[in-house]
Amino acid sequence: MVLAEDVLTPGGRFLMPKGTTLDGGHLKSLLAWNLPDVGVVEARQRAGAAAPDALGPLVDEAAEQAVRERFCRFDPESAVGRVLFPLALDREIRRRRAAGAGWEGAEAGRESAAPEEPRRAAGEALEPPASPEALLRDEPKLVSPPEVYQRISEVLRDPASTVEDAAASIRHDPSLAAKLLRLVNSSYYSRTMRAVGGRFPAKVDSLSRAVLVVGGRQLATLALGVSGLPLFPDIPPHWVNMRVFWEHSVGCAVAAQVIAVARGQDDAETAFVAGLLHDIGRIVVYKQASHHMAAAMRQAVADRQPLHVAERETLGFDHAALGGGLLRKWQFPANLEKMVRYHHDLDEPLFLEGPAVVHLADCLATAMGWGGSGNRHVPPLDPAAWEALGLSAEALAGLVPRMEERLAETMHSFFPDRAGPP
Ligand SMILES: [Fe+2]
Ligand SMILES: [Fe+2]
Repeated sequence: MVLAEDVLTPGGRFLMPKGTTLDGGHLKSLLAWNLPDVGVVEARQRAGAAAPDALGPLVDEAAEQAVRERFCRFDPESAVGRVLFPLALDREIRRRRAAGAGWEGAEAGRESAAPEEPRRAAGEALEPPASPEALLRDEPKLVSPPEVYQRISEVLRDPASTVEDAAASIRHDPSLAAKLLRLVNSSYYSRTMRAVGGRFPAKVDSLSRAVLVVGGRQLATLALGVSGLPLFPDIPPHWVNMRVFWEHSVGCAVAAQVIAVARGQDDAETAFVAGLLHDIGRIVVYKQASHHMAAAMRQAVADRQPLHVAERETLGFDHAALGGGLLRKWQFPANLEKMVRYHHDLDEPLFLEGPAVVHLADCLATAMGWGGSGNRHVPPLDPAAWEALGLSAEALAGLVPRMEERLAETMHSFFPDRAGPP
């Protein structure tokens, strides 16, 4: 492994130059400085080769440090923490070991630990933040939803709409129809359907069959989420790689749907789409209020704060409120909008249950390291949300491996070329 950049200590002292070929001594030194995530450009060994035995304990130690840091705001001794921490650690060790000699390189492109502030003139003070309405107005891609969105929203808002109305609203967009069929045909979806006793043919090859199998309103709800992804502007890569962002979103979607099914809810598709879109407000903030977001991210890292708390202090609102505002502007179904708007704000008891599903799913996705949307630390699990869901920690332990198993396939159904967003 060769260092891709100069390495500085957390205090800014020069430690190792770019181009250093790392040996065991270098790795020990990096770990001693709590710097397990430096970038490397080259692996001496074949990519994917297992980590050499001599490095195994160091890799495991670095994995444990990383997971402990991730859980710094989440009590690993709580009932849920006792279940989640070992699962997260096991996954992190597997991930780092699978990356072999390039285990540190596997971190490249993931979340920035302490982002550089975007360029500003010397002495330039941070301007007062814009309002959520102004941020949404200034993002040209989001000013108005595309026509297909409006048609699907109308079908969902109209209680008298039929399954044929739902199919017709989707049929106008062949690429959306193809993406939906891919999602419905993923074994993740078919297994979920079987688990709840639904009939599922071997292959759903047309929209009409998809409507019959999944249900018209459910398919239209999925269509809202699937058609939304390409609308969002790319985040500059020094923030968060878009693929990592969507992996977090798809992870949260899968988790929310599995939780909803486990609770016997009949709106699992709504939970899926709410999970998929729960952090979209953050994309707008990265793009339209980058200086404030840089300040919030630095504050969150320095104070080991959940990022949404730092956002509230820096911007006066958080990404969840902004995302909820966007969904309201686009006339999304009210329950879906509330699941997004309140996923970090569980104080409103009238809306507790829906947002609680997304809240727990977000905690799970962050704890397990399924992608990332900028938050380094697992948000604390709200006790009222956990109680409202009525799940046991043991039941959760059984759900997490099933979610993980299906995440890769669901990601593939969204991003078949593995290159990035659709
Ligand atoms: Fe969030
Ligand atoms: Fe999130």
